[in-house]
Amino acid sequence: MKIQKLHLKTILAGLVTTLVTTQAVGMGGCMMGCTTTTIDPPRGAAFTDPVTMANISTIPGIVEVNLEAKIAPINVNGVTANLMTYNGTYPAPTIKVKKGDLLRVHFKNSLPYTGVNMMGDDRDLTNLHTHGLHVSPEGNSDNAMLSFMSGATFDYEYDLSLHPGGNLNFYHPHRHGNTAEQLWGGMAGALEVADETTALAGYETHTMVLKDISLDGSAPAAHTMDDFMNGKEGDVMMVNGKVNPVLNMKPGQVQRWKIVNASNARFYKLSLASHSIQIIGTDGGLLNKPYPQSSIVLSPGERIDVMVKASTTKGYYKLLSNPYNRGMGMMSGSGGSQTVTLLTVNVTGTAVANSIPATINSNAVRLAVPAGIPTRQITLSMGMMGGMEAYINGIAFSATNAYTAYSSLNTYEIWEVFNNSMMDHPFHQHVNPVQVISISGGDTAYKNFYTTSPAWKDTVIVPKGGSVKLLVPIKDFTGTTMFHCHILEHEDIGMMGLWVIQ
Ligand code: C2O
Ligand code: CU
Ligand code: CU
Repeated sequence: MKIQKLHLKTILAGLVTTLVTTQAVGMGGCMMGCTTTTIDPPRGAAFTDPVTMANISTIPGIVEVNLEAKIAPINVNGVTANLMTYNGTYPAPTIKVKKGDLLRVHFKNSLPYTGVNMMGDDRDLTNLHTHGLHVSPEGNSDNAMLSFMSGATFDYEYDLSLHPGGNLNFYHPHRHGNTAEQLWGGMAGALEVADETTALAGYETHTMVLKDISLDGSAPAAHTMDDFMNGKEGDVMMVNGKVNPVLNMKPGQVQRWKIVNASNARFYKLSLASHSIQIIGTDGGLLNKPYPQSSIVLSPGERIDVMVKASTTKGYYKLLSNPYNRGMGMMSGSGGSQTVTLLTVNVTGTAVANSIPATINSNAVRLAVPAGIPTRQITLSMGMMGGMEAYINGIAFSATNAYTAYSSLNTYEIWEVFNNSMMDHPFHQHVNPVQVISISGGDTAYKNFYTTSPAWKDTVIVPKGGSVKLLVPIKDFTGTTMFHCHILEHEDIGMMGLWVIQ
């Protein structure tokens, strides 16, 4: 195999960027000429967690917050941009609750009316989804069928008595036809449910919201037709709104990081130079024990809870997103061929002797697949070039037509999800987390981890041309909810189905 390298420097969105172009000839699986790019911005400001949402309730067991969707000026890598925000911050404030709480959200839509978008949807229409919460999908709970015009207010109420503790969730808009543009514009926040165990209480803990964006002047870059087909990726990669922030760790210190991929379409393949990352929790909660990984693929909508033990050697270590080919067919512009420095760990100060616990959550178990349960087949596909449609079982979701899965409460199903397209789709279902029975295709470490650990998942990568098999427990709540691709452009162009639980 012949490899040629070409180095050049360019200035991209205010970042000094070094491009390394590698042409590989005769490599299997590299159809369009492999070009890898390194984006290694200078070390930025000190890492900060997202701000914490103020709880205006004084009653124990009730968390009450004000949440306002509005345009606000945000500093994006030195440029003041008018982003779509919650409460005027990016990322949105982290809402903190615990199992058993009642969460009340006084929601106000202050997005301006600015006409219709490419999907024909009024741009001001929005609503709220609490991705990952095991709560009712009905009424004023996690009801993604609602939507609100500019100026409207609504009180959401989520009863968290049946949601398990110890996981990171993700709140964002869910108005079909508008979801991708609003998330892209900045409407994303973390929603943390406290641990039920105190075993991890002593560790320095941080939340990381990963998101990319491109600006056009002082606004988020507009979506094109190609963006709806490919999923839109940006040229500025941020951790909690900052480019390459510096996070200090003491030599030998163990920190816990809760990470959400809040990007529209960018997949991250995370690694930390000279360190292993140990996964202790996934979308739906804590694992039985730490699972050490050399790299971790995190697709849009997925979360991981990890522990990292800092080296005893002081210095700077890069948290990288490595190339991951999510498959773009003939399309170009994928961040999947990039190596990006997301954050820099600075190991500094007085050494400490922390250790990662051997046991995390003894209640976490991998379920045996019950005998004789029904299997549902769900096929994801994309329209041909230019068609700007995507399908579940051949149907592009609309208000009047959708593939609808009918399930019975208190049963189990196997969902076999096939990907009949040239790119990966992160398959997400609301309300009930699942366990992964098998995965065909895709990243080997991802497959090995999710098909052997007691991980609860609400978002699972269905690799291009591949499939996944999920064990789906249908518990606690009836109502109509949905499943969809979490490349939210694909959701907007129809890769969504309804899930009626009776
Ligand atoms: Cu995070 Cu239905 O979405
Ligand atoms: Cu969701
Ligand atoms: Cu998709």
